[in-house]
Formats: sequence, C-alpha cells, structure tokens
Amino acid sequence: MGTQLHLVDPDTCRGDGICADICPENALEMVDGTAATVESRADHCIVCGQCVAVCPTESLRMPQLSAEAFRELPRLPFGYGEFLDFLKLRRSVRVFKDRPVEQNLTDKILEAAATAPMGIPPHSTAVVVIDRRDELDFLLKELVEDYGKMVQAMANPMGRAMIRLAAGAEDYPILRDYIRDLAKYANDAYHRDGTDRYMYNAPMVMLFHGNRRAMSYEENAHLVCHHAMLAAVALGLGTTIIGMIPPIVERSKLLRKRYGIPKENKVMTSLILGHPKYSYRKSIRRDLAGVNLVR
Ligand SMILES: Cc1cc2nc3c(=O)[nH]c(=O)nc-3n(C[C@H](O)[C@H](O)[C@H](O)COP(=O)(O)O)c2cc1C
Repeated sequence: MGTQLHLVDPDTCRGDGICADICPENALEMVDGTAATVESRADHCIVCGQCVAVCPTESLRMPQLSAEAFRELPRLPFGYGEFLDFLKLRRSVRVFKDRPVEQNLTDKILEAAATAPMGIPPHSTAVVVIDRRDELDFLLKELVEDYGKMVQAMANPMGRAMIRLAAGAEDYPILRDYIRDLAKYANDAYHRDGTDRYMYNAPMVMLFHGNRRAMSYEENAHLVCHHAMLAAVALGLGTTIIGMIPPIVERSKLLRKRYGIPKENKVMTSLILGHPKYSYRKSIRRDLAGVNLVR
C-alpha cells in the first residue's frame, strides 16, 4: 500500500466532521466518530491542505505536506476601507529612481506571490527575476530587434498575412491597430537616444511562466503576477505589468535559454519593478465594463 493520505490521531479527533465538510474533493468522512480517508476518493485529493489547516484539535496530518508548510494564521489585519485604500495606492509606475530593488524586498514579493491561488496545487507558475543592468539592456535590445522586424513585416501585404496567420484572427487587429504603432514609437525612441519605452529603465523585471500541461496555467501565472504586484506596492515599490515582453521571450530560443525557461512552459506575463521616482497626490475612480445583477 502507498503512503496514507491522511493520518488521524484517534485520541484527539473529536469527530466534528469539519475536515470532511471543508474538503473540496469529498476525500474525508467520519467513520465511527473519527475522520478517515474515503479510499474511493483518495486519488482525487488535490493536496490543498485545508483539512489540516481547519482541524481545531490538530488531529490531522498529511504526509505529503510537511508540518512546516503550515503556519499560524494571523487575524485579519485591516478592514475593507483600509484594503480599498491600499488598492487605490497602486498605479502603473513607469518612472523609477536609479536604485536597485533590494534582495530582502524581492524575497518578500516572491513569498507573497506564492500565496496566490492556483487551478490545483502545486503551483505551475515559475518566476524569472532579472535585475542585472547588462541583462536588462540585453533584453531591451532583443525587444527592439524583434518588434522592429514586426513593424517592418507589417509594412507589406505578405508580411501582414504571415503575422495574421501566426497571431490568429482574434489577436491580429490589436497587433495591427495598436501594438505596431506602440512598437514603432518605442523603437524610434530607442534608436534616437537609447530611451527604453518597453521596460522604462526599471531596475527589475519579473517574468511569469507556466507549464502548458498544468490546469489553468495561464490564469495561475496572472494571479501570481498580481499577488507580486500588490506585495511590491505594500513594500513601497512601483510596478507595471508589461504585456509587450512575454511574446518576444516566448519565441526566442536565446532568451529562453538565458532565463532557464523549459520548452514546455509558456511565458504568460511580466512585471517591471522599482522605487518610484514620484508619488501620486490623487487616486482615480474606475468602473468595470459592466455589472449585471441577475436576481
Ligand atoms: C495585461 C496588461 C498588460 C499591460 N501591458 C503594458 C505595457 O506593455 N506597457 C505599459 O506601459 N503598461 C502596460 N500595462 C499597464 C496598463 O497600461 C495600466 O494598468 C492601465 O493604463 C491602467 O493604469 P493603472 O494601472 O495606473 O491604474 C498593462 C496592463 C495589463 C493589465
């Protein structure tokens, strides 16, 4: 027999059934007043650890999850008003101080990013952190070169047809009507005086990539990025999600090799980070595209 899924201490388990109630996969049940694995559901366990985390008598362990994986839970540290105020503090920052992002801040951002939800555990998202100036300069050169080729190809019907084929009918209009102009503007600025309109001279870039075979790998990567972004704000840093970087890294063998991105992984999103040069005086109100209350 393989490793047991749940180890229950029968002396302390009071048979309250909370673990069974909270399990998203119905992999626990009460047998003779004690928690037990539902053998027919054991293979469906996603090892989320909720049963262990909720047990009021700490009677449950999962050999697949080390005791260190579980930490004391803090009380809710703020109310809704403070949370909303915090969210309002976040803006896309594109002007940075000439100052690196300290290692202890990077560690904290990654720690917070790992708390993001995922389709099913464990995380499918991996992060590349680039903070060496020469490496960032190299990436910028690659971005300029690749987008330069795209702008050039867009200038003739054959090139446009090829790009349409590669991008697909849904993405092509955005490339044609928006990205092309952005890239042209950014490349002109770079060739004029080295201005960086892709990463805005940020001292750090994070790339988020995930295994194509993992469930919800795309959404997972965006969520991890979003958590990293909010953590950075909490630490006084500024960030911007950069959609222009992933497609270039994704199809560059050279960059993938440099960053250790495996073939089966797709680069989903990226984040620039740094100490903001300016502080905002106002927040901005935004509304969603629509809200339909179906009652
Ligand atoms: C998926 C996504 C991709 C983005 N890509 C870029 C980008 O390539 N360059 C950029 O300057 N900003 C980029 N942004 C930032 C948006 O422009 C910014 O969020 C928007 O203007 C709203 O401003 P705020 O974030 O300050 O509220 C991106 C944002 C998202 C969500």
